[in-house]
Amino acid sequence: MSAPAAVLTGLGAYVPPRVVTNDELSRRMDTSDAWIVRRTGIRQRHWAEPGVATSDLAVEAGHRALKSAGADGSDGIGLVVVATTTPDQQCPAVAPDVAARLGLGTVAALDVGAGCTGFVYALATASAALVAGYAERALVIGAETFRPFLNPADRGTAVIFGDGAGAVTLRRGTTDEAGAVLTVDLGSDGTLKDLVGIPGNGSRHRSTGRPAHPDEQYLFMHGKEVFVQAVRRMAQSSTTALAQVGWSVDEVDHVVGHQANLRILHAVAGELGLPEERLVRHVDRVGNTSAASIPLALADATERGRLRPGDRLLLTAFGAGLAWGSAALTWPGITLA
Ligand code: UT7
Repeated sequence: MSAPAAVLTGLGAYVPPRVVTNDELSRRMDTSDAWIVRRTGIRQRHWAEPGVATSDLAVEAGHRALKSAGADGSDGIGLVVVATTTPDQQCPAVAPDVAARLGLGTVAALDVGAGCTGFVYALATASAALVAGYAERALVIGAETFRPFLNPADRGTAVIFGDGAGAVTLRRGTTDEAGAVLTVDLGSDGTLKDLVGIPGNGSRHRSTGRPAHPDEQYLFMHGKEVFVQAVRRMAQSSTTALAQVGWSVDEVDHVVGHQANLRILHAVAGELGLPEERLVRHVDRVGNTSAASIPLALADATERGRLRPGDRLLLTAFGAGLAWGSAALTWPGITLA
């Protein structure tokens, strides 16, 4: 039986032009192309030039998504949600600025901070608002500018993360339409908040009155522990989302996991009993783009003609918080702008 649901209508992606190869990083720090490819599957990433911020990437991706949506684009967008770990500033949020620069007027606009799971949380937020009737159409963007937060002395993070933005448009529709977001599973574990994060500049730090240590402005990550948690939580959340929507693993056409590390994606596929060819892979070309990674992977798969209307997709993500989430949806007939 059909029920109200958010339906995907457009998709856009943007990565800054500067490509940084593993060989270039090997000249800057003690690492190698062989190590990075073997341990992560990453071959290159994009970095924004100095002076370019997350909102700039978000506007580019948002513009492309609105164009891709055609008649379902800018007319009637009532909500903009930007998922990011690397906002332009502490306050205000990035989303109102992005909405204004896209010419969307005085719409509802907010940021979602859920680390690398940000896009799934933002999709859930927008879907719920559409189903509740608070807006007819929404724009959801995942955007990150990690470069300024990468410690050049920390090869465990500096080789992993990249910059970029991806966006989708949604409209209120029904579950029987191609493109419908059918279910979402979300979770968190704040007891493990010290495994990955950017500690500097928040109220905890500032209230101490002590001068900032330079390292506190940088991203830190306990990679091994995060790896184990990522596999466990994405597999569990995927299983929950599949049970909610009533699909077996065999009925899923594509799993679009957070593109953190190819080994993590393979391990999740192993836990689920999913053939690896049904994994969407994009991490090799952009690295870990955190909240941008799922929409960027969707755009890449669309460009390659891999996603067909009516295909069943499972999105799954994990990151700082800890926070994780999965969403099941069908794929619409989307054309990239
Ligand atoms: O997006 C949010 C969620 N994030 C993730 O899901 C990321 C999860 N973690 C990972 O992907 C992996 O843990 C990393 C890719 C970050 C690291 O891979 P690993 O296989 O866990 O390596 P490790 O940290 O255990 O380090 C193994 C060795 C160490 O050397 P020793 O102690 O064995 O001599 C490291 O010092 O590799 C060394 N190493 C490197 N060597 C060359 C660490 N980073 C590098 C590097 N280049 N960039």
